[in-house]
Amino acid sequence: MKFFIDTANIEEIKDALSMGMVDGVTTNPSLIAKENGSFKDIINEICKVVDGPISAEVISIDTEGMVSEARPLASISENIVIKVPMTIDGIKATRILASEGIKTNVTLVFSPLQALMAAKAGATYVSPFIGRLDDLSQDGLVLVEQIVDIYNNYAYNTEVIVASIRSPLHVLESALLGADIATIPYNVLSKLAAHPMTDKGLKAFLNDWEKKSK
Ligand code: G3P
Repeated sequence: MKFFIDTANIEEIKDALSMGMVDGVTTNPSLIAKENGSFKDIINEICKVVDGPISAEVISIDTEGMVSEARPLASISENIVIKVPMTIDGIKATRILASEGIKTNVTLVFSPLQALMAAKAGATYVSPFIGRLDDLSQDGLVLVEQIVDIYNNYAYNTEVIVASIRSPLHVLESALLGADIATIPYNVLSKLAAHPMTDKGLKAFLNDWEKKSK
């Protein structure tokens, strides 16, 4: 399973890179807005340190605007993936960008049929937002399961990026369901490594070692 990091913060990205846990990066306008610097500068900086797909989202809501934003963004690096919203205009833009060899990540996906349309339009990636479904008392992981099944049924190449991840359990269940990628916020990534029995065991080993050296 590939781990992407869901942040535009360069320090978080560098730290996750030092763990070897960054196969790619996803950003969105909300994540970019939290950081200092222009959108282009932030994306350029990420491109300098990450060797993998980096999602940068358009803010236009019409097809023509999305495509016009996408082309210069895609020229920054071959690693750039254009994130487009799951709307009819976004699907049209995905189709155009796919025909130009520009990679896309169809975002804000909340239903399996949206994911099917994204794949048919030629999306490179699709991003189901599971945490936001959980917030509505709907099981976001059921959506992941349905998308994985549909894509397997018809051998679509579109990769599933599980997004809006809020907990380690989301990552575990996504892995068990066979999702290609989890895009993980930095705070959740840190939690994946934690276990109280590891801490307890390490403390006991160090205590015993201390006694022996006396
Ligand atoms: O990748 C999409 C993700 O950033 C959305 O997460 O927590 O805002 O629902 P969240």
